Amino acid sequence: MCGIVGYVGDKQALEVVLDGLRRLEYRGYDSAGVSVLDGSGLQVERKAGKLANLEELVSGRAMPGTLGIGHTRWATHGPPTDANAHPHVDCAGAVAVVHNGTIENYEVLVAGLEQRGHQRRSETDTEVVAHLLEERYADGPTQGDLPASLRSICKDLEGSFVLVVSHRDEPDLVVAARRNLPLVIGLGDGENFVGSDVTAFIAHTREARAVEQDQVVEVRRAGVTVTDLEGTVVDGDSYHVDWDTDAAEKGGYEFFMLKEIEEQPAAVRETLGGRLDADGLLHLDELAMSDEDVRGIEQVFIVACGSAYHSGLIGKYAIERWCRLPVQVEMASEFRYRDPVVGRNTLVIAVSQSGETADTLEAVRHARSQRAWVLAVTNTVGSTISRESDAALYTRGGPEVAVASTKAVMTQITAMYLVGLYLAQLRGTRDPDEVRAHMADLSTIPDLLTELLGRMEPVRELARSLKDEERVLFLGRHVGYPMALEGALKLKELAYVSAEGFPAGEIKHGPIALIEQGTPVVVIAPRHALQAKLINNVQEVRARGARTIVITTDGDASVLPYADDVISIPDTKSLLTPLLTIVPLQVLSAEIARARGLDVDQPRNLAKSVTVE
Ligand code: G6P
Repeated sequence: MCGIVGYVGDKQALEVVLDGLRRLEYRGYDSAGVSVLDGSGLQVERKAGKLANLEELVSGRAMPGTLGIGHTRWATHGPPTDANAHPHVDCAGAVAVVHNGTIENYEVLVAGLEQRGHQRRSETDTEVVAHLLEERYADGPTQGDLPASLRSICKDLEGSFVLVVSHRDEPDLVVAARRNLPLVIGLGDGENFVGSDVTAFIAHTREARAVEQDQVVEVRRAGVTVTDLEGTVVDGDSYHVDWDTDAAEKGGYEFFMLKEIEEQPAAVRETLGGRLDADGLLHLDELAMSDEDVRGIEQVFIVACGSAYHSGLIGKYAIERWCRLPVQVEMASEFRYRDPVVGRNTLVIAVSQSGETADTLEAVRHARSQRAWVLAVTNTVGSTISRESDAALYTRGGPEVAVASTKAVMTQITAMYLVGLYLAQLRGTRDPDEVRAHMADLSTIPDLLTELLGRMEPVRELARSLKDEERVLFLGRHVGYPMALEGALKLKELAYVSAEGFPAGEIKHGPIALIEQGTPVVVIAPRHALQAKLINNVQEVRARGARTIVITTDGDASVLPYADDVISIPDTKSLLTPLLTIVPLQVLSAEIARARGLDVDQPRNLAKSVTVE
């Protein structure tokens, strides 16, 4: 977590850095800070709370200078106070450091620093780096050499980090280092950048280069040098970022999430685009497996966290149905600790919007160590998970800024269907005509989504009527069950409402005891083979006083007698219904949060990209 920006060029650094932080704020938003280097030294400003607090603090204040670093924080060591906000400086205020990650051996390092007379001013692990830099830049073999000082310190640090550093005696140098967490270089003309992701500098340059494990970057106006920890220069390729800058702006919407919900038809179209050849056969060359290896797969694991896990659950239904392969879906945080039976004939699919989630990354590493073939399904080109996997399938959802995932999940689910169909095609479990027919069904989804999004006002009205509820249950069967989980997660994270999702058939084994007079129960019951059983469940909860809110299919009257509120979606094949049922669930939770006066984009205690275990 935490967002980091570094800049050196000819523009006013304060503006560039604050602009970058605005785009990175999704990574953490409990405090923020900047440091700008001017002729007289480093000016540092930090403030607890959202970035807006820092912006207010510096507004109207002269902070001239064309070199700067900045940080937006998600606290790990030390609460989110002004004193713990980054940048941190050394005793003399000569060096400023921002950090993403955790330095696991910081207590040992602090003890040594205190013995040597350094004064700590914060409770963070980060501050040790500033003091260590003070020592190594002042003395010894790395004296007067900031990159060498940082390289030598990295060798002493344990844990995960991205560090970005500036020094008052180095007016043309920002130095950064990376271990386990993301860092990208932005290559400009007479100016260069580093950031936690490309959105940090996308307004200035679209040429980027990923920084690899244990590399140190020297960023100067005229160019960028990357070395390993021994100081040997390492070459690397740059890539062009083709994300639309407007996609990272609110574009008139009150919240990013509302905009991102509306972007879903286009996002699905992108995910599906160009996948069929002239014969209507599916191409997923990204999978990078030989036909023989695909035929040799004996089992599939899908690992993911949060909403991406729910996308993975849909992948299980699709792959099992179409490929007749056993699929297990695991929360990535659990996967590697229970020693799963994974081997050479196992395909592991890691689903991650950011491609940086620590638990998912560790699951990938574990799977590869067991010789499984790992496919990353991610939205982020060049992300750590995509680079550490055997192959990457990009979901092409464009930048997602709101912490609660919408279009990313939608495109992940779409990608799950693509993987299922592709494996079925190669393994011969579905004939080409059937694959073509499923692809034709999928290709209708963007238009159906547009139509559905156009009739969400009654859902918003319904949401407003639910704004004071403190408990909501979500029920579904088959592919409706993961959507019940997703609906509940969205409501929890956005509106702080106690919400749970259950398989509808399971409620009689316990959860039904939660129902009181008026308890809202959202039932995902589109036209489906199991709909009759779902209608029984709706009746069961209604008989116990529940207010039933039923998501059903246009023209389907069977559920109407049992529904207090009805949300209707267009008809599609039952396996594909999650791509439609998910929309009213997103709108419902966003609108309840809005009606409760909450920050829809930045719910409390959360961060979008969770890079700690
Ligand atoms: C966080 C976000 C969720 C997301 C999850 C996994 O918890 O708030 O929206 O689903 O991380 O993120 P990933 O980037 O791996 O998909």
